[in-house]
Amino acid sequence: MRRVYLDHSATTPVDPRVVEAMLPYLTGKFGNASSVHLFGQEARAAADGARRQVAALIGARANEIIFTSGGTEANNLAIRGVCELAEPRHIITSSIEHPSVRGTLESLEKRGWVVTRLPVYDDGIIRLEDVRSALRSDTVLISVMMANNEIGTIQPIKEIGALVKEERQRGRRHLWFHTDAVQAAGRIAIEVEHLGCDLLTLSAHKIYAPKGSGALFLRRGVRLTPQQVGGHQERERRAGTESIANIVAFGTAAELAQREMPARNEHTRRLRDRFENAVKASIDDLAFNGDHKRRLPHLSNISFRFIEGEGLLIHLDMQGVAVSTGSACSSGTLEPSPVIRALGRDEELARGAIRFSFGKDNTDEDIDYVLEVLPRAVESLRALSPLSRQTIAAS
Ligand SMILES: Cc1ncc(COP(=O)(O)O)c(C=O)c1O
Repeated sequence: MRRVYLDHSATTPVDPRVVEAMLPYLTGKFGNASSVHLFGQEARAAADGARRQVAALIGARANEIIFTSGGTEANNLAIRGVCELAEPRHIITSSIEHPSVRGTLESLEKRGWVVTRLPVYDDGIIRLEDVRSALRSDTVLISVMMANNEIGTIQPIKEIGALVKEERQRGRRHLWFHTDAVQAAGRIAIEVEHLGCDLLTLSAHKIYAPKGSGALFLRRGVRLTPQQVGGHQERERRAGTESIANIVAFGTAAELAQREMPARNEHTRRLRDRFENAVKASIDDLAFNGDHKRRLPHLSNISFRFIEGEGLLIHLDMQGVAVSTGSACSSGTLEPSPVIRALGRDEELARGAIRFSFGKDNTDEDIDYVLEVLPRAVESLRALSPLSRQTIAAS
């Protein structure tokens, strides 16, 4: 059976060039970067090189990068790190953040912080005016993701950055702007200076490096309470022996992503658009989720009316095609994706949503295969669906 992986927003395969770059740091060059001897110096030099590569991907300085174990840790470090410097005050965020931001904010709410969650409109995008009106005199942090992981919509980050700058010029000193760029990095060009953000989250495994590595950009001069203490690593901002092989892998992947971004985007956009056009032509009762233009070039989120996304996912998996849904299992029942619900979709459409996310190594033959199995899978599930039978009988 053919296997087609269309779940690159969940994770990506490791690029062989990345494996090649990291291997020496698992074997001969295994030193601890804190050691004084030559083994340690080799490890330190490798981490420094990777730090420059990761910084270059987002237009930052190397000493503004803190390596972490991934995007989740970087989001926790950013939000808790900034907020723990102050008494409980006010935070602004969007209603479609990744659980690693959502959960961190919920934990702060339990400690007395007030969180304003801005709505997205039916295009999956927040409005700058809503950010402006949500600002309070005690707002300490704005945390808005750069691009959403389920629908790929791109938020007005530059505009929020400009608003924060304006507020600072008016004399407001304690307002920080964090953006989770885990899905956006390597897919849209990022210049932290231009965007005006103070903290930015990255994850290695979304850009063809292994899982277990990430980074937080922390603008020079911004203070933060470390969340992991006990060693002097990462300039006292994240204690723990660095995973040099993973850091080297992340650096290499960041450099490749930067260099190959235009070609990768052109490739995935072409496959995605070809896929969407063919799906539109062959399947009825669909809804495309999220703004068609302001979205990542590799992602397509489609709701198939009358069926459960989860059922379709399993059906496709049995045919070798890997996709995902945004539903989460809570107390034994499948909750429809909160992101799709936030677009104002009814529950049925939210339950029927599937994310297809394309990657640099997908081929036209992959798409041909999915286009062969998908309409059949939808048709057979709809034939079994009581909802769809009722509708047919009623019409
Ligand atoms: C938008 C976003 N933020 C954060 C994360 C978490 O990153 P990690 O898997 O490296 O912890 C993810 C992963 O899916 C994500 O999509």
